[in-house]
Amino acid sequence: MSVLVLGGAGYIGSHAVYQLVEQGEKVVIIDNLETGHKEAIHPKVTFYEGDIRKLDFLRTVFEKESIDAVMHFAANSLVGESMERPLKYFDNNVYGTQVLLEAMVEAGVKHIIFSSTAATYGEPKSVPITETMPTNPTSTYGETKLIMEKMMKWTEKAHGIKFVSLRYFNVAGAKDTSEIGEDHRPETHLVPIILQTALGQRSHITIFGDDYDTNDGTCIRDYVHVDDLAHAHLLALDYLRKGGDSNIFNLGSNEGFSVKEMIETAREVTGKEIPVQIGKRRPGDPSILIASSEKAKNVLGWNPTRTSVMQIIQDAWNWHSSHPQGYGKEG
Ligand code: UFG
Repeated sequence: MSVLVLGGAGYIGSHAVYQLVEQGEKVVIIDNLETGHKEAIHPKVTFYEGDIRKLDFLRTVFEKESIDAVMHFAANSLVGESMERPLKYFDNNVYGTQVLLEAMVEAGVKHIIFSSTAATYGEPKSVPITETMPTNPTSTYGETKLIMEKMMKWTEKAHGIKFVSLRYFNVAGAKDTSEIGEDHRPETHLVPIILQTALGQRSHITIFGDDYDTNDGTCIRDYVHVDDLAHAHLLALDYLRKGGDSNIFNLGSNEGFSVKEMIETAREVTGKEIPVQIGKRRPGDPSILIASSEKAKNVLGWNPTRTSVMQIIQDAWNWHSSHPQGYGKEG
């Protein structure tokens, strides 16, 4: 049997695929390469280029391949863009998942592992955030992910497809071998922007607000290493295959770091100056997001080993400095 990975050419999907292959799983990837990169696709997988909104295309893949589980990374994931183009997010994320579930129902595939997000919670009343806290998304992106979770909940009741939804906090880092890493176009995430500044590709990094109610005035986030995050997907697969019930887990480090602390750590790791300017707050940014990941540890046996901000930034730096153009020319 194979695992079908939707979005397997993307940042997080590609890291999960490498681990699946290393674990001896047969992997089939679907990706429309809108944001994913051909170069990130593991050479030992079967790859179909196409869009999950096309039911006929999905049918063909489910007919040709023998699939027992799906990992669903295929979505648009930029908070800012989702506020400007909400319908793009409803189309690709919500409708895309609807078509996928239709194809899974037809094919009789009973397991799905789903990429969700801390953005489902919105502005938390307290931290660390547990899975039982209220979900009040403050962005279209977060709302679409919450709807996708609910779609899976109701589909399970009717058709018995079990799901694990993994709510990611701030994912960063790269594979320790630097074979694959983070390459978004345009880049909006903190760690790659800091490191592009260290490489001299940007003159400075703008800190989005230093007047938050935090120790140094900058936003606090919970950073998780992409390879620890990817490993949680393999544990979730094992959990579902062994008959585990549908479930939702937060994935983070239980620790918060401010934007200024991240920049300071990057200065230590890279030995570069990394010039900074203070800018305005970015609309929609919650001041503090920190996960409680106790449930993932207790139920899935998740044991992150590379999640320290030092290690995350070191691995990301190894990737960026060896691939200054990402998957472009040098990549
Ligand atoms: N930041 C800056 N300058 C930059 C980029 C980011 O100061 O140039 C700050 C942001 O304001 C924020 C922090 O760095 O305080 C982290 O920002 P990111 O854009 O890296 O990440 P977000 O916390 O905004 O978003 C992440 C994921 C989303 C997810 C969200 C959940 O990328 O997919 O967490 O809240 F939805």
